[in-house]
Amino acid sequence: MQHLMSPLDLSVEELDKLLTLANDIEKNPRKYAHACEGKKLATCFYEPSTRTRLSFEAAMLNLGGSVLGFSSADSSSAAKGESVSDTIRVISCYADICAMRHPKEGAPLVASEKSTIPVINAGDGGHQHPTQTLTDLLTIRSLKGRLHNLNIGLCGDLKFGRTVHSLIHALIRYPNIKFTLISPEELRVPSYIREDVLHKNNVPFCEVERLEDAMADLDILYMTRVQKERFFNEDDYVRMKDFYILNKKKMSLAKEDMIVMHPLPRVNEISVEVDDDPRAAYFQQAQYGVYVRMALILTLLEVEVC
Ligand code: CP
Repeated sequence: MQHLMSPLDLSVEELDKLLTLANDIEKNPRKYAHACEGKKLATCFYEPSTRTRLSFEAAMLNLGGSVLGFSSADSSSAAKGESVSDTIRVISCYADICAMRHPKEGAPLVASEKSTIPVINAGDGGHQHPTQTLTDLLTIRSLKGRLHNLNIGLCGDLKFGRTVHSLIHALIRYPNIKFTLISPEELRVPSYIREDVLHKNNVPFCEVERLEDAMADLDILYMTRVQKERFFNEDDYVRMKDFYILNKKKMSLAKEDMIVMHPLPRVNEISVEVDDDPRAAYFQQAQYGVYVRMALILTLLEVEVC
């Protein structure tokens, strides 16, 4: 039985197979419409979510399966003090696969150790968000045609943004990847990412503060929200929250074929005037999230569709 805690749980070959399956699902949705009939997905979300929870549920429904779960810790027995380990033992009696989001780093991993069904990390604190990474990789591969030879600008909250951490881990496995890390001093990537991941693997990167200085060279601009829920101090959040606002003027500095991605939700970091730019890919990215989660459910449940 396989779980998914980190994008690195999948080899590059396994990832390639998963993304190819997701593209086939996109092209031939009817072929997969009954693939998970009789199977149940549990979504155990101890933290708020729109895209991840609902795209998981849409994915299972698209496969002909059923869904059950809870969308906040308050509406589960976690509010009475139940541990994640006990909860997953019980959920294992009710469902065939579980997607779990939790504010504590490592909670889905703890659950996976007690589970008798596959557990998917749907985001754990500021740590990892592997299914967002799968979504991002599918978006990049589908829209840019490759996962190599790319200069990727990561902009915003690079300290707390778990989608950024997971994406860096995943992309360094492809040739000729360069990162441009765009953030204020206080929100730079954690030192373990800079030292243990980028330096250690000789991945080229530069760190800049001004978005305008980076735009012209980017193949992909990956914007992120300042993660309000991870700040200890409201004043620090207020000072940082509008540090970057991508608008039409800044987009005019970018390549014609650059794409703008964002895991969403956005707050102010991308002006709505950018939404009509053909390079704005963030809503398409959310759609790719359904296809890739369908592919992941099929893979972890070992369902073959001929
Ligand atoms: N991208 C993402 O994780 O969005 P939600 O928090 O809405 O799930």
